[in-house]
Amino acid sequence: MTLDYSGYLRLDALLSLQRPKSPAAESDAVRSAEHLFIVVHQASELWLAQLLLDLDHAAQALRRGDPDASAERLTRAAALLGVLRAQLDVLDHLPPSCFARFRPFLGTASGAQSRQFAELERVLGLGPAAGPLATALAEALAAAGVTLPEACRSTGPLRRVVDGLSAVALGYRDWQAGHLAVVRRMLADLPGTGGTSGARYLATRVRLPFPDLHAARREAGETIPAG
Ligand code: HEM
Repeated sequence: MTLDYSGYLRLDALLSLQRPKSPAAESDAVRSAEHLFIVVHQASELWLAQLLLDLDHAAQALRRGDPDASAERLTRAAALLGVLRAQLDVLDHLPPSCFARFRPFLGTASGAQSRQFAELERVLGLGPAAGPLATALAEALAAAGVTLPEACRSTGPLRRVVDGLSAVALGYRDWQAGHLAVVRRMLADLPGTGGTSGARYLATRVRLPFPDLHAARREAGETIPAG
């Protein structure tokens, strides 16, 4: 059988995965709002999968001495974070009153349980260890015999890597800030389904990865947008 569009993309499987939990008797407004909520989360997980792939390849390229390929992947990763951030904007069109109607059906499900997001934080060095990107950069700098501030002032390929890492970090922080704004609008000061205090907790999560790299960029005269 010849491969067609829907076969290649496995659309039958993909488009059968959106199953609102609110009862069929619920209004169209609530059912379609829940559909939107599911689509945004599922699409975000797809973009996260691509993002993790690109960040992994960026670290690998840096380790094998190919900073140009690494910088290219990092630039794309930053663009992907922009897509993730932009997706949150459609939630401006999810009325909080509709969200409140289907929220009880979420149970204890929460984005805080996203394994891919936890992996992203590990890769960005937001966990207990430095993470593969910062480690690969430190090794590449040592191999080239340059310090981080020197790389920030240079015009070579390692400078493009530093710029790429910075763009990824800023993209991550923008997503966190955008998500916090959505949560404030939807929940005000209500707790999250995952058991946290909600917006109050999430405000502590708006962090800029690679603080040393940003300090070095500032020293080199770059302007880092405030969070
Ligand atoms: C109506 C929209 C949304 C609301 C009301 C909301 C609410 C929340 C709340 C309250 C938390 C804190 C954990 C908890 O207690 O549940 C949280 C965490 C999280 N949410 Fe959302 N969220 C929304 C949309 C999204 C979307 C579209 C994504 C995309 C994947 C997402 C991903 C996450 C992630 C990754 C966390 C963990 C963040 C961290 O701990 O740093 N959320 N969300």
